[in-house]
Amino acid sequence: MDMEVTAWHSLHSAMNAQQDRRPFSRTALRRIMVFARPHRRRIYRFLLLSVLTALLAVATPLLAGKVVDAIVNGADTGTVTRLALLIALIAVVEAGLGLLTRWLSATLGESLILDLRTAVFDHVQKMPVAFFTRTRTGALVSRLNNDVIGAQRAFSNTLSGVVSNVVTLLLTLAVMLTISWQITLLSLVLLPVFVVPARRMGARMAGLQREAADHNAAMGTQMTERFSAPGATLVKLFGRPSDESAEFAARADRVRDIGIRTAMAQSAFITALTLVSALALALVYGLGGYYALRGSLEPGAVVALALLLTRLYAPLTALAGARVEVMSALVSFERVFEILDLKPLIEEKPDARRVPEGPVSVEFDKVSFGYPSAEKVSLASLEEVATLDDRGGTPVLHEVSFRAEPGQMIALVGSSGAGKSTIAQLLPRLYDTDAGTVRLNGVDVRDLSADSIRDTLGMVTQDGHLFHESVRANLLLARPDASEEDVWDALRRSRLDGLIASLPDGLDTVVGERGYRLSGGERQRLTIARLLLARQRVVILDEATAHLDSTSEAAVQEALAEALAGRTALVIAHRLSTVRAADRILVVEAGRIVENGTHTELLAAGGRYEELYRTQFERPSSDGDRTAQPVR
Ligand SMILES: Nc1ncnc2c1ncn2[C@@H]1O[C@H](COP(=O)(O)OP(=O)(O)O)[C@@H](O)[C@H]1O
Ligand SMILES: [Mg+2]
Repeated sequence: MDMEVTAWHSLHSAMNAQQDRRPFSRTALRRIMVFARPHRRRIYRFLLLSVLTALLAVATPLLAGKVVDAIVNGADTGTVTRLALLIALIAVVEAGLGLLTRWLSATLGESLILDLRTAVFDHVQKMPVAFFTRTRTGALVSRLNNDVIGAQRAFSNTLSGVVSNVVTLLLTLAVMLTISWQITLLSLVLLPVFVVPARRMGARMAGLQREAADHNAAMGTQMTERFSAPGATLVKLFGRPSDESAEFAARADRVRDIGIRTAMAQSAFITALTLVSALALALVYGLGGYYALRGSLEPGAVVALALLLTRLYAPLTALAGARVEVMSALVSFERVFEILDLKPLIEEKPDARRVPEGPVSVEFDKVSFGYPSAEKVSLASLEEVATLDDRGGTPVLHEVSFRAEPGQMIALVGSSGAGKSTIAQLLPRLYDTDAGTVRLNGVDVRDLSADSIRDTLGMVTQDGHLFHESVRANLLLARPDASEEDVWDALRRSRLDGLIASLPDGLDTVVGERGYRLSGGERQRLTIARLLLARQRVVILDEATAHLDSTSEAAVQEALAEALAGRTALVIAHRLSTVRAADRILVVEAGRIVENGTHTELLAAGGRYEELYRTQFERPSSDGDRTAQPVR
């Protein structure tokens, strides 16, 4: 039984080896050591236990041989009983040691998973927004799950697989050779007969396995895409369900065929292995019996040899696949390190300051900016492309300068794609400027702590994102210590109290995937409620009411006006009423501020603003900014 398990194992390893042939670096090994260091006590204990277990494993066959000899030589019953009791004792100790070893290896492996996971999670959290705009979430999650587990496997497999098997193998071989080197060597002659074809078959199976994996992945994508609420809606409205079914069935069919072939290959492998070891066993009995009859070998030695032989094949087959197994799992380690090595583009300075107290001024000083290229922020393997796009860095903003005095409200207007949202994103330091400085209360945002920026700045974007959590959790994100009353007050002011109160679970209602169960306008009002709750000193509204109809907008405008009162505000406007209320209007075109003044001043100047005013703001039905791209 034990042998079967290891045989499966080595066949699988042979298949995996074909998939990942990349050599690993010595530095990776060194870094694994760093992760292992805190656990070294456990590792030593584990190794010690492995040696002990191996010693016990050879003791039992030897004792069994002694029992046979005692019987043949007509010893007293006391001797036999003592030997039998010793065998029983060893079995009990072996069982205990087995549990202890397993406990140690499980703790080791799981602790390593914990360390790696938290390290990766913490690191990824530090990555800039640019990283997340490029990477596939799925690829990232798979690093956290599959690769971390793969890395752990490399670790425990080397320990339990290689180390303890080598010890068992050497000890067993040594003991067998001392009993009869002729029989031992002969019984090993048959080994290549099954190891060689197994390797060749492994290579062939690998191709099939890869194909199955591709099909499975494709089916997975198809399911997650089509079985989400928006996807299912799309298929029902425009799709062809029968085509979808046929495609899915063809893939599933191929996976079935591969599954059958793999099962047969595995079964052939195990049968071959069982056969070879049975043949070797026959050889031991035949040859051993011959020697015993001739008197050159004790009968007990024959029994001992036969029992030892059954314990020899299991570690042998395990080791046959161990090398490749460890190698492929090391690749997982490397893939984890690859993530840990990504340098966060935006880092807090060690001596980061807080935003000075009091009302806050906002200043852009000759700010130029281009979105970073993929090469700078991402990993090819995470984007699932061969090479990273090194384009990008094309300037989006050119020497943008303006200043909002504490308490002032600045409106940004301009055609879609002009760079308004980009300006908004530089303020909370979602990106760093290429040239020039962004300041909050006179301090360069690069000198401020992330915490302090979060406490100071509130932002509502066009596509207000909600976590798949309760309404309450989504609201408290900005101010975890807010009271129930504060929460309801914010909801009331954003005109959402009625809706939330009518929900069966009230504040505890989970707002579905991407807040799907709420309408666009409701979602936006919830993010506005979040802003009202957090009461930051600077407020950025990026087309914050674009999804609201005119009735609810009028209501929410009131709440927003309240939220903006006495605060410094940057408002990306899409309604004339907002623009008119602003202390200053900046007209942004192609990344530059082309006009700057009050509504009356700019209208009088008869420039771009006047043109925008005529085409966008005057006719309420054609609200140009409504079609603007969402903030990315
Ligand atoms: N994440 C991004 N990566 C690369 N380019 C971007 C990104 N986001 C926006 N852009 C580009 O930057 C320019 C300005 O965009 P944006 O600031 O969103 O315009 P606005 O908000 O004024 O409509 C556009 O040309 C847009 O395509
Ligand atoms: Mg925008």
